[in-house]
Amino acid sequence: MTRGGQGTVPHYAGDVVGAQLGLPGGGLHIYLTGDLLHPPMVSDPGIWSDGRQWRRGAALHTLQIAELAELAAGEWVMDIGGGLGGPARLLAGRRGVHVTSVTNSPVHAETCRRLNRAHRPSRGSVAVRVGDCQRSLPAGPFDAALSINMLYQVKDHRALYERVFRSLAPGGRFVVDDWMLTSLATDADIAALTRHFQFPYFARTTTVEDDLMSAGFPPAEASLDLGHVARGPMADHFERQMWDHFAPRVISDWPGDPVGAPGRPAYGRLMIEEFVTAVNLTIDLYLRRCMTYRRLLVRKPSS
Ligand SMILES: C[S@@+](CC[C@H](N)C(=O)[O-])C[C@H]1O[C@@H](n2cnc3c(N)ncnc32)[C@H](O)[C@@H]1O
Repeated sequence: MTRGGQGTVPHYAGDVVGAQLGLPGGGLHIYLTGDLLHPPMVSDPGIWSDGRQWRRGAALHTLQIAELAELAAGEWVMDIGGGLGGPARLLAGRRGVHVTSVTNSPVHAETCRRLNRAHRPSRGSVAVRVGDCQRSLPAGPFDAALSINMLYQVKDHRALYERVFRSLAPGGRFVVDDWMLTSLATDADIAALTRHFQFPYFARTTTVEDDLMSAGFPPAEASLDLGHVARGPMADHFERQMWDHFAPRVISDWPGDPVGAPGRPAYGRLMIEEFVTAVNLTIDLYLRRCMTYRRLLVRKPSS
């Protein structure tokens, strides 16, 4: 993943790794989960212990979100922080929904548009919009909205939730699916996470429901905790799969190191090392119960 934050370098710009793989903005994640830029947070050791299955796991993760959001064919859905549009295309094809994928990254939007043309879903449709979800969202009205693995990049969660509330039809569902800090996380934990993941705005289990209610939503109808996936199969298999399954191809595509071969745009071993260190930090936080992974469903009142 490239460096650069909100208000500095545009989100995900300058990604040579994704660009070489034909998916600018996807970075190292393309090797792991393709156009789905979230982890396979599914409780399946068979998937976690076999890197070839991680993309399928990330797809299952997306489909489980769709199930909770009760997506039905023909419905209009907004995916906030939609990345390369992988979740949107999957949901259009599998659930027959019409998805508007919103991102603040022009690079993600451009790659998404290109992928939409090349892989037009057999049912449903996918559109992409560029914008900051804190400031504006497409008017809709949408039957459902999703946000997956993106809150840590968004400073004002309440502003996002208020925009979602306005864009939903009466009775519309909203599923928030993200890694979240618990009350045990310290300022030092957040500083360490920010060094690796660039953004400090992690959702918190202690405030996420209040934030949603402040936007007008009633209390959550469902709140699933998937932290056991991180503490179980992810902790057991993540690092080994990174080195045994993914590293050989990544290192072969991006050989050398900054000392022996200076000036190259990327170094495979270094990328893997940095990513393993970053994700191991999260695994440590999951194990210490400072972090968890939550999926919440809220529903806009019908009247
Ligand atoms: C880690 S990616 C996740 C992508 C996607 N949800 C997935 O699972 O494949 C985070 C996405 O959120 C977008 N994003 C971050 N902050 C945003 C904001 N303020 N408004 C809209 N999109 C935002 C990023 O540009 C990126 O597309």
